[in-house]
Amino acid sequence: MSECVLYEHRGPVGYLTINRPKALNALNEEVLLNLENAISLINEDKRIKVVILTGSGEKSFVAGADIAAMKDMSPVEARDFSRLGQRVFRSIETARPIVIAAINGYALGGGCELAMACDIRVASEKAKMGIPEVTLGVFPSFAGTQRLPRLVGLGYAKEMLATAKKVPAEEALRIGLVNHVVPAEQLMEYCEGLAAEICQHSTAAIAYGKMSMNAGLEMDMDRALEHEATLFGLTFSTEDQREGMGAFLEKRSPKFP
Ligand code: CAA
Repeated sequence: MSECVLYEHRGPVGYLTINRPKALNALNEEVLLNLENAISLINEDKRIKVVILTGSGEKSFVAGADIAAMKDMSPVEARDFSRLGQRVFRSIETARPIVIAAINGYALGGGCELAMACDIRVASEKAKMGIPEVTLGVFPSFAGTQRLPRLVGLGYAKEMLATAKKVPAEEALRIGLVNHVVPAEQLMEYCEGLAAEICQHSTAAIAYGKMSMNAGLEMDMDRALEHEATLFGLTFSTEDQREGMGAFLEKRSPKFP
């Protein structure tokens, strides 16, 4: 893996860092492909239960897609770049482990879209989020026009699109764009605390539950309920279900692998 995406794991927690601090971690094709590769390795590594995704440096999570790389793209190249970003972000959204975005600064354009593809968003109080693409004569196309209205509602999403405003962390919290806001120096510690809580529970059950929520939101209610019942049934094929329910009835704490 190249240096533009760093990956390490400590125990069950994987750490992914977008590492182009001089360009405020802007996303070019190389970063996107490396991110996709990292997610695919993580999916196969059953030791990993949670991933924390952040940006290098003090200033930025990700300041968007790389404007220098996009400037002279043809319409077809731009469409393909959009498809690449959509595909990679979808792979994050549907990754087996829970992915926590540790938003350590600017999360703009493609950076805001990347954060939205993660399962849980924690922002430093210094973070600023937004989709300022209309200032560049384009609009967000790494699924931002799809995920943002789903997260914050159509009205606020359209306001963010049209005003290009950089939403401060507290406002992002109020509109539901992030789950938590914490002091900058506590960001990683807070995310690690969340990760530790998640690691105590059944990884398989979390993965099936995540799958049910992701897929269910795209189905009508009847199909979503059927899908949910099927996945619930599948949890009964796991050792975790026997251990979890057995432990409850034996009045002891469960031991999940
Ligand atoms: N692409 C490429 N380079 C970027 C970048 C981006 N998205 N964002 C920042 N950089 C580069 C700057 O060009 C600059 O490089 P040099 O030092 O070589 O000049 C370096 O990072 C530092 O940036 P600034 O000097 O601008 O830093 P600042 O503190 O003054 O401003 C900022 C920070 C407000 C984040 C500003 O950099 C900015 O507005 N960046 C662009 C944000 C943006 O428009 N994002 C959307 C991109 S389009 C997109 O994402 C489309 C999509 O959905 C597919």
